[in-house]
Amino acid sequence: MDRLAVSLKVYLIYSLDVAKFSRKRLLGATVPLLAAGPLARVAFAETEHSATHEGHDHRHAPEGHAAMIGNEAPSIARDPAIDALLVPPPALPHEPGRLREYELVARDVELEVAHGVHYAAWTYNGTAPGPVIRATEDDLLRVHFRNEGAHPHTIHFHGIHPANMDGVFEIVPPGGAFTYEFPAKPWGMQLYHCHSTPLKKHIHKGLYGAFIIDPPKPRKPAQELVMVLNAFDTDGDGENNFYAVNGPAFYYARYPIRVSRSQTVRIYLVNITEFDLINSFHLHGDFFRYYRTGRDEVVEYTDNVVLGQGERGIIEIDFANTGRFMFHAHQSEFAELGWMGFFDVVE
Ligand code: CU
Ligand code: CU
Repeated sequence: MDRLAVSLKVYLIYSLDVAKFSRKRLLGATVPLLAAGPLARVAFAETEHSATHEGHDHRHAPEGHAAMIGNEAPSIARDPAIDALLVPPPALPHEPGRLREYELVARDVELEVAHGVHYAAWTYNGTAPGPVIRATEDDLLRVHFRNEGAHPHTIHFHGIHPANMDGVFEIVPPGGAFTYEFPAKPWGMQLYHCHSTPLKKHIHKGLYGAFIIDPPKPRKPAQELVMVLNAFDTDGDGENNFYAVNGPAFYYARYPIRVSRSQTVRIYLVNITEFDLINSFHLHGDFFRYYRTGRDEVVEYTDNVVLGQGERGIIEIDFANTGRFMFHAHQSEFAELGWMGFFDVVE
């Protein structure tokens, strides 16, 4: 039998034994990947290995594991629009009343969410997550929103603002526009997302992004990154098939993030994953300070944080060593379906 035939046989055997292999895992590891090229090979290799192990044949399928790193990671090609999401706009000094303007346009876009896997997304400005919005506390934030999508949308910001700026009642129809305007507060790590109903659909289709409000007293200089934890349900069954940071699965496994050991790495982190109750961020080889909601009232020193949907915070890492260090969801299933990457720490 050729490789695909063997894999399909394994899949069928497992289909009959649901107790050993959850429905979600089956769907996640096989069905959406049948058309996914190299990624299908990875998942099949793993399935095959599990099956032969079960049958006391301890053959190894090494590509099932080695394929997750560097050139072998089943990521999309390098994309400047995705790279732009990793680095926030610079912080500005505290100047109450200063105008900060952004333009967000809702568009229906087909996104490549893993190598060869396409998804009919709803986006702000063509990516899921949308652009990073940043303001300093007491800036007057003005966001011009236009809906060029096929469904009614809004922007709901987390933070403190008037009721008529909350993105819940002022639904913007296709072809419509709305301007959100309010003083940015409180300082910390926030997020924004669409609040049209059904809410879970408008979120999991891709309408969300990071929203940073800088404190009046500037944070110390750092290498600043943004990580929005998200996922995609590519077969429409209400469960995720791919997990990611800032959009495409395996992106930072294929293209590690280069940072310097001599300066703090600051990550603005938010979890917007739909369907799954929790997500997490785990760092290898070091510990970090975690500021819940980007505030300084509670600081934790750890290598793993767990976040429900809408939870967010700031991570600060002072790397002790140079070298390649992995970061990933500590739900290992999420990591294997795309939510993993590497830091290249240099002097
Ligand atoms: Cu929407
Ligand atoms: Cu929310």
